[in-house]
Amino acid sequence: MVERKTLLVTGGCGFIGSNFIHYILTHYPTYRIINLDKLTYCGNLDNLCEVAHQPNLIFVKGDIADREKVKGILHDERIDCIVNFAAESHVDRSIEDPDLFLRTNILGTQVLLEGAREAAVPLFIQISTDEVYGSLGSTGAFTEATPLKPNSPYAASKTAADLLVRAYIKTYGIAAIITRCSNNYGPYQFPEKLLPLMISNAMEDRELPVYGDGLNVRDWIYVEDHCRALDTVLHHGNGGEIYNIGGASERTNIEVVRTILEVLGKPESLIRFVMDRPGHDRRYAMDFSKLNKKLDWKPKMTFEEGIKRTISWYIDHQEWWQRIKTGEYLKYYERMYGNR
Ligand code: NAD
Ligand code: TYD
Repeated sequence: MVERKTLLVTGGCGFIGSNFIHYILTHYPTYRIINLDKLTYCGNLDNLCEVAHQPNLIFVKGDIADREKVKGILHDERIDCIVNFAAESHVDRSIEDPDLFLRTNILGTQVLLEGAREAAVPLFIQISTDEVYGSLGSTGAFTEATPLKPNSPYAASKTAADLLVRAYIKTYGIAAIITRCSNNYGPYQFPEKLLPLMISNAMEDRELPVYGDGLNVRDWIYVEDHCRALDTVLHHGNGGEIYNIGGASERTNIEVVRTILEVLGKPESLIRFVMDRPGHDRRYAMDFSKLNKKLDWKPKMTFEEGIKRTISWYIDHQEWWQRIKTGEYLKYYERMYGNR
């Protein structure tokens, strides 16, 4: 018998959510997906234009913090799993104005959890981040048992959401899983995050603003590897568990920026060191051995190959990011980098 599942994917018009929808529609063509997205500044229907015509992908414009909206969807549809990507996701914006981060990331998650409880949804997957663990020194890696010590308003709001998921598991017995992933890169990433910002600026011969000394370390995972990890967790994960997801590709920011310039054949004179981000976490690294040992997942893409593919995508999709880099985006850029 062909398996049919209906997934409620929130934030499916953003970077990872849209990659996840593409992934699911390719690998599970019989599944139905309801995509609930508020279409904030980074939510983009263009990310799904190739699949928007498919009858098994339904778009609902709405806010995850809107109780009536969420209740309505869960009343009308028999949802097998909620996958919650929807979030305010940019650390720099959370430093500028934290309020919306609390509403979407904390209250929004609670509204979804409450909906899941009332409608007895069989599974809830909360897409969380390595940033809940705080910052590492030069050695070691975060495990699922590492204490939560978030440092930015973004990370604090994601931590609060994780704790609400935990509380709903313990108190109401809902079947929920938390996944914590490191920095993603790949197609459809909004060009205010490190990689697409640097790639698109370099293509336009603009300066590349590197914070502080450029020696902060991130672990980079190709977004398709993240989607494959979520596929594994969706089909084989156990309710109540937390799974770290990582790319096994630690790089300093300056290494990443130099690689981009090298691949594009652009000069290092484009690099400009700018004032550091307040509270800037020094290093993230993920121990994902639990997911590897229990569910046999590991990342497949090397950083060297992944960055080349990503750069090719931004070269082939200049219209996509040029449409974004206008209006509101330019105002944001001026606020963030104008006097830095
Ligand atoms: P993104 O900013 O590209 O997309 C977020 C999406 O959520 C957008 O489509 C936006 O319109 C939507 N959204 C925002 N507020 C909403 C609301 N109130 N109701 C409904 N929709 C709303 O983010 P992303 O990079 O794709 O991240 C997705 C998730 O993955 C987030 O939860 C983030 O915390 C987590 N995460 C991201 C990374 C990363 O490297 N990007 C790493 C680990 C975890
Ligand atoms: P970012 O993509 O914002 O992800 P996060 O802060 O969630 O890890 O930033 C990745 C790293 O790149 C982080 O150490 C901050 C740094 N960075 C810069 O140096 N310059 C920039 O313009 C941006 C956006 C980030």
